[in-house]
Amino acid sequence: MRAVLVGPPGAGKGTQAQILASELSIPKVSTGDIFRANVSGGTELGKKAKEYMDRGDLVPDEVTNAMVKDRLAQDDAATGFLLDGFPRNVPQAETLKGILADLDTTLDVVLELRVDEEEVVKRLSGRRSCPECGRVYHVEYDAPKVAGTCDNEGAELYQREDDREETIRHRLEVYREQTAPLVQFYEAEGLLATIAATGSVEEVTARAKAAIAEKVGS
Ligand code: AP5
Repeated sequence: MRAVLVGPPGAGKGTQAQILASELSIPKVSTGDIFRANVSGGTELGKKAKEYMDRGDLVPDEVTNAMVKDRLAQDDAATGFLLDGFPRNVPQAETLKGILADLDTTLDVVLELRVDEEEVVKRLSGRRSCPECGRVYHVEYDAPKVAGTCDNEGAELYQREDDREETIRHRLEVYREQTAPLVQFYEAEGLLATIAATGSVEEVTARAKAAIAEKVGS
């Protein structure tokens, strides 16, 4: 299975990618997570990405595309992957097509998660993440057993720099202008499946699995 998740910030891409990748036994490849790991590790890549991420802008395509190409060439992605946060614009989608053509393969499905913008602001302002395992929580909708602490690692949860309301609103603008055109792009390719990303995490997962099965089976 080679799949992509598309949706606005806060749609639940990371949450669903973690669950679906584990159930499908394929790696979750999140460009946001890779960038954040590089920022906290102080690498050259992290230094290049940080200023864009803090503003809520896209990291330049040449940086992002090279990183994804390397990641998809790793052994664990040979039989499949779930991309979360890439592609993010039509040029990145064209690059992905080329990367996969070089590996002699293609995408199976692109799952679009739809949610309205006010819900996004509520979700992102309450998001907390584990610095060790990357698990994502919400202070109200998906709270850890002990407030502020990861259920898996016992690590102290943190709030992302780009989850301030002003930055969230800018990320939504970037999504509308640069990422939303991917919906038409993948519809034209016959790969798009769209679901409502509202309701509980479990309800969204059930919808996602049904939509993927319908698309891949068709
Ligand atoms: P990235 O990390 O990809 O951020 P994003 O797309 O803005 O998405 P988020 O991670 O904010 O949201 P999500 O949809 O994953 O939601 P989540 O599951 O966490 O990118 C960050 C930055 O990196 C970008 O701004 C850019 O600078 C750079 N970047 C990354 N990829 C790039 C690329 N390809 N090109 C260029 N630059 C790139 O859920 C959100 C919250 O909601 C959580 O608290 C969760 O618990 C809660 N929640 C989830 N599901 C539900 C539900 N059903 N009901 C209630 N709450 C829910």
